[in-house]
Amino acid sequence: MDRFARNFIGMSIVYLFIASIFGVAMLVYPPMTGLKFVHSHLNLLGWVSMMIYGVGYHILPRFTGRPLKSPKMAETQFWLANIGLIGMLLFYTLGVYSPDRGLYTGITAAFGLLEAVSIFLFFFNMLTTIFAKSEE
Ligand code: HEM
Ligand code: HEM
Repeated sequence: MDRFARNFIGMSIVYLFIASIFGVAMLVYPPMTGLKFVHSHLNLLGWVSMMIYGVGYHILPRFTGRPLKSPKMAETQFWLANIGLIGMLLFYTLGVYSPDRGLYTGITAAFGLLEAVSIFLFFFNMLTTIFAKSEE
């Protein structure tokens, strides 16, 4: 298995663990529901999407019988997706607990944009792999 596929799967499981702590914390202490966005995106961009990236990078090229178009792009996607997610959720949380929430909006959005760039890399790499012209 490629290193980036294994790393995506490893990180997705770590995010599931952290997200479930946030989930239980919201049940135990309802005011923490202000961090619902953190819980939902640890789950959906962390656990769910990263598990799909990892399994997808391993399996989809094999299904189509073609190598992944760019392993380097997949490695870059791994870093952008993780930096984007952690940055977005960290600065969102600082915004929730800061008296001046607006201060953190721009930087939260910048990390969100980084996350979107990582999604674009997956989109491009996977589609160009699946729909590459066959050699025969
Ligand atoms: C230990 C497991 C989990 C617990 C205790 C938990 C708990 C919670 C709680 C308390 C909320 C806030 C509900 C509210 O607005 O009052 C919530 C929201 C949410 N959770 Fe979880 N959750 C868990 C696992 C998951 C998983 C595995 C996923 C997705 C794969 C998920 C996705 C979401 C989403 C998308 C929301 C936002 C829903 C909305 O806006 O209405 N959760 N969860
Ligand atoms: C670039 C990636 C993404 C960004 C920047 C982003 C951003 C956001 C924002 C700003 C909200 C509103 C939060 C609020 O009301 O305070 C939101 C809500 C939501 N997003 Fe995303 N999102 C992304 C990806 C995704 C993905 C991939 C999924 C599902 C697989 C998803 C599912 C949801 C759900 C279910 C909600 C409503 C629950 C909540 O309020 O937490 N998002 N998202």
